Amino acid sequence: MSKPAKQLESAPRLYTEKYRPHLHFSAAENWLNDPNGLVWHDGVFHLYYQYNPTGNDWGNMHWGHAVSTNLVEWEHRPVALKAEPWGVGYMFSGCAVIDHDNRSGLGQGGKPPMIAIYTSCNVAGIQAQSIAVSHDNGESFSQYPGNPVIENPGTRDFRDPKVIWHEESAHWVLALAADDHIELYRSENLIDWQRTSRLMKPYGSHKGVWECPDLFPMRTRDGEQKWVLTVSVSTEHSERDEQVQYFVGEFDGTTFTPQSEEEMWLDYGADNYGAVTWDGVPAEDGRRIMIGWMSSWRYAREMPTYPWRGNMTIPRELRLFRTSRGFELSNLPVQEFASLRTAPRQVARSAVTSDAVQQLFDALAPELLDLELSFSWPKGESRSFGLRFTNANGEKAAIAYYTGTDTLIVDRTQVGIEIPNPRLAERFEAPVRDIEGSIDLRIIKDTASVEVFANDGRTVISANLFYDEPFDKVTIFGADDVNVEGEVSVPRSIWQDK
Ligand code: FRU
Repeated sequence: MSKPAKQLESAPRLYTEKYRPHLHFSAAENWLNDPNGLVWHDGVFHLYYQYNPTGNDWGNMHWGHAVSTNLVEWEHRPVALKAEPWGVGYMFSGCAVIDHDNRSGLGQGGKPPMIAIYTSCNVAGIQAQSIAVSHDNGESFSQYPGNPVIENPGTRDFRDPKVIWHEESAHWVLALAADDHIELYRSENLIDWQRTSRLMKPYGSHKGVWECPDLFPMRTRDGEQKWVLTVSVSTEHSERDEQVQYFVGEFDGTTFTPQSEEEMWLDYGADNYGAVTWDGVPAEDGRRIMIGWMSSWRYAREMPTYPWRGNMTIPRELRLFRTSRGFELSNLPVQEFASLRTAPRQVARSAVTSDAVQQLFDALAPELLDLELSFSWPKGESRSFGLRFTNANGEKAAIAYYTGTDTLIVDRTQVGIEIPNPRLAERFEAPVRDIEGSIDLRIIKDTASVEVFANDGRTVISANLFYDEPFDKVTIFGADDVNVEGEVSVPRSIWQDK
């Protein structure tokens, strides 16, 4: 047996580095951005992703690959779609579907092929849509010889196809981002595509180029069906982040008609971008599950991590419900995530200022936490309450709720204070609606990030926390008459076998 390679003294073992997420998917090494090719097949959730196998910065895009049976623990697989600089080009974002009825004619031996539909970006930077086929359950893909299947019409930004089978019209439908709008196409065979409609201004936010659309049906608990279009807005060149907007509306197989011109937001933090959903989740499961890239183009290249850069959000289940403003979505961690909890402790209803509650928080190491807390307060004057992560270095990250304006706040302005990065020193504020006198907060704290889901996932803030020193204390704060109850737990690392 050959001897294992000697570890360099200065290099920490993979998955034990400073900032390495323990509850989120990251590649062992090198740069990662958007999730791609999300498809469920034969009991396996496939997660492909924008990946540079030769460096810790964006460029040389391939599709990395990982698989999971529970959306929590991931197994790394070899790169599945390789860049072809002398061929179609680099592999930008896209999706994958299982062609069950072999409408493409690309199946082999009676087995339905997995087909990736993605943006090929050639060395001149021209973006077109191409397809690739896998006959080995998504382990490897070969390029369709007739690529590209949608030529570039002279548009600079023309990318990120997401395909769904539309039962009612018996067509594949593809949503594509083109500069500042979305184009919809349809096809019978995944190869020949016709454009059917566009969604553009005055719909939505236009602070930057539109990217990574996703169009899919959702049902309310009462069985009412609507269609949802999600679109990421690149705010790379603006002061503040805006990330994944969405619209709820009707879709007739060719045209999507939103209920309103105004966009809504899936997440009010900076660190959830390019989020898209899994295709092919079996009807018995019935969930629409989404995952995003947990970063922002405003500073992604400056994330101080090595030898990897970038990770995904926690996979989230979307739900559709009716409110006084029309239909809205919520997003909460998939239920499988709770299987990571160890030693859960109940918090009996008590004042946030009580010694018993603070003692319980004092006993928690704040590195990894999964908290499910419900706060309540009497009618009357405005109050704030929440949690603070601190360390002896003087750094502070705060999660707060202000009852006066029903605002959820995540403040990371005092995180990473030694060499402050103005792009990271932000405070996020998000509106919370339809509550009276109490609010539930689900808080997932990973090594260097926090995801806060308020009001059953209707208001969400995701934010990285690049501290100088790890937080060693978590404090609960608030007015004397604010009560708290719930459960606190310490999740185990998803990489514990690495
Ligand atoms: C979004 C994005 C996509 C593109 C990919 C390239 O983050 O800019 O529009 O396909 O990243 O890596």
